[in-house]
Amino acid sequence: MPIAKISGVGAYAPDFILTNQMLSEMVDTNDEWISTRTGIKERRILKGKNKGTSFMATKAVDELLKKTGIAAESVELLICATVTPDMQFPATANLISDNCGLKNAFSYDINAACSGFLFALHTASKMIESGAHKKVIVVGADKMSSIMDYTDRNTCVLFGDGAAAVLLEPSEDSDGIKDAILHTDGSGWRYLHQKAGGSQMPASHETVDQHLHYVYQEGKKVFSNAVVNMAEVAAEVMERNHLAAKDIQWLVPHQANMRIIEAARELTGIAIERVMVNIDRYGNTTNGTIPLCLWEWEHKLKKGDNLILAAFGGGFTWGSIYLKWAY
Ligand code: ACO
Repeated sequence: MPIAKISGVGAYAPDFILTNQMLSEMVDTNDEWISTRTGIKERRILKGKNKGTSFMATKAVDELLKKTGIAAESVELLICATVTPDMQFPATANLISDNCGLKNAFSYDINAACSGFLFALHTASKMIESGAHKKVIVVGADKMSSIMDYTDRNTCVLFGDGAAAVLLEPSEDSDGIKDAILHTDGSGWRYLHQKAGGSQMPASHETVDQHLHYVYQEGKKVFSNAVVNMAEVAAEVMERNHLAAKDIQWLVPHQANMRIIEAARELTGIAIERVMVNIDRYGNTTNGTIPLCLWEWEHKLKKGDNLILAAFGGGFTWGSIYLKWAY
């Protein structure tokens, strides 16, 4: 059976730029703190009434279809990784499929927080490998501004909005998605979550008054887990595939904090100029970070390049994927 290859990338980032300077006028923070503690300088925010995650994801998929030249009707499956679905149900993936004219595709969402894109990519690659499907789209998209408390300096400086999508097809050779190591530690839920709006604590006047519909994060606890686990799993996938730092053309880390990225770079020994970093311009777009990097660096990627993708997020979830770029 052929392995799955990524055969195109599309993306969309909203125009509105929220700078550190602007945030310092909203909460008690400053550019120096945000830059040195996180590496973030600015992030994009989706403005406009009734525009949800699917608005950005639709634009990303439209660009992907245009770039790859494949017919919308030929797509068999679309998986959307998101923690900010347009609605509790139906799946945001369904709205994207409808907007993009994917008439013959089935679709669903995956929620694995910041690791969601990797979890979805792994799932989709197995759909191809099994022979069940030949054209699968994976979207990573989040409108984090919709669950941000812009009075809470601990969280509101970290996140931004964005979407990106990849097309998966069967590979004609050995270039494609080679290996994945994915993990979940459910006990980590308590350190990073959204308290209200689910079945455990449905929305009420009280939940709104108490700001319970926003991201709750114990930053230090998440940081200490992220810094170790993302680095270790990236190193593990390299070791399992007999890859040394010199064999890796690109490390593609989740963009949550420059210090977490640096820890992964250090443990894997990959040179800094071989690491995709755009956290300074987008912040943490949750499911958008890794495909947004692939989209920005696409013109530099060469067939046969070895890429290590790595992420850590709420859940806790974390993982790493090894792939050979296929075009
Ligand atoms: N501006 C100024 N000061 C601030 C700000 C801010 N924006 N935010 C916090 N501070 C203050 C704190 O109040 C604290 O002050 P105190 O010492 O007087 O109490 C001080 O800065 C230090 O705070 P820490 O939380 O210790 O700062 P830290 O260096 O840990 O950085 C951060 C905080 C950036 C949140 C970091 O912990 C982090 O990156 N955590 C991991 C985030 C992550 O990876 N999330 C997972 C992915 S997200 C997902 O899955 C949806």
